[in-house]
Amino acid sequence: MEKKIAVIRGDGIGPEIVNEALKVLDVIAEKYGHRFSYVDADMGGCAIDKYGDPLPQHELDKCLGADSVLLGAVGGPKWDSVPGNMRPEKGLLRIRAGMGVYSNNRPAKIWKQLASASPLKPEIVEKGIDFIIVRELIGGVYFGEHKTFEDGGEKVSEDVMRYSESEIERIGRIGFETARKRRKKLCSVEKSNVLDTSRLWKSVMHRLAEEYPDVELSDMLVDNCAMQIVKNPAQFDVIVTENMFGDILSDEASMITGSIGMIPSSSLGAGTNGLYEPIHGSAPDIAGKNIANPIGTVLSAAMMLRYSFDMPKEADDIEEAVGKVLSDGWRTADIMSGGEGLKSAGCSEMGDLICDAIKAMK
Ligand code: IPM
Ligand code: MG
Repeated sequence: MEKKIAVIRGDGIGPEIVNEALKVLDVIAEKYGHRFSYVDADMGGCAIDKYGDPLPQHELDKCLGADSVLLGAVGGPKWDSVPGNMRPEKGLLRIRAGMGVYSNNRPAKIWKQLASASPLKPEIVEKGIDFIIVRELIGGVYFGEHKTFEDGGEKVSEDVMRYSESEIERIGRIGFETARKRRKKLCSVEKSNVLDTSRLWKSVMHRLAEEYPDVELSDMLVDNCAMQIVKNPAQFDVIVTENMFGDILSDEASMITGSIGMIPSSSLGAGTNGLYEPIHGSAPDIAGKNIANPIGTVLSAAMMLRYSFDMPKEADDIEEAVGKVLSDGWRTADIMSGGEGLKSAGCSEMGDLICDAIKAMK
């Protein structure tokens, strides 16, 4: 199969981790006789430096014209003082909205090899951590009106959180469909004791539940959910929630699995052109040192193969190779803690080890 992939390396550790994912994709292409071609697109701080804009239309067009997009990370202290609507993160929001990828899928699954890296007590980890956060990605307070103005002699700011029934319904359906393919438990997370958007959210979820009688729907307030994720993560199968709650809960969920560096994500809309990125940031403090963990990006590439290109066998190979390398004791710095006889790998060594493990498979 031939596929065109737009590649956004971005800032900080972005270029290093993306390189490793491309190495892995090349090994897969070779093994299965596919042709992946790559089109570089600039977004984030590097695009601000080059074009004075975190995502110029011509760069977004490259992504819209590809079969899928692989993204490293954007942002860094260098661009902290630029105005809000020109920040690197604005490029990220614009590409999500521009591609219409309303559904962000963030798995929180513990690798048995990394159980000792989890900050939770072993008796909690042993019960299992394997759930998915389905986060609404192009609505809510991230995309409402933001403004700062003078009122009564002081500055006042406003960020509007807004959701329509149809926006809630389309992400709700993804939640139900995702649960249907798994353990059939969907937890809808909101703040309906305070927010109107949450009360609307809850009512739409319950209306949809009638169409999915095989899925067990529960409701949870977001503050309680934050607590339950560390107290009893085994209770969760699929969590569906709005944009900002999903942002916060997915960082928390990643941490209990050992390291945020391990977690991939997919973002999809109506078509198959998806945006695939690790959930961590650009980590400018460790950029250029060859110590970043590329696994979140490598696993994001695997998700691209699975969800956008319908290549499940190829995706399985990558995931199995990551498991093999971890079982052999190889660790990047972020997942080094716990366990004996562990071997240290840099970012590029980790990529090579994963490639070698794929080549060694039948
Ligand atoms: C994420 C990130 C982004 C978000 C930032 C960088 C804008 O934290 O993908 O979770 O808040 O969505
Ligand atoms: Mg986040």
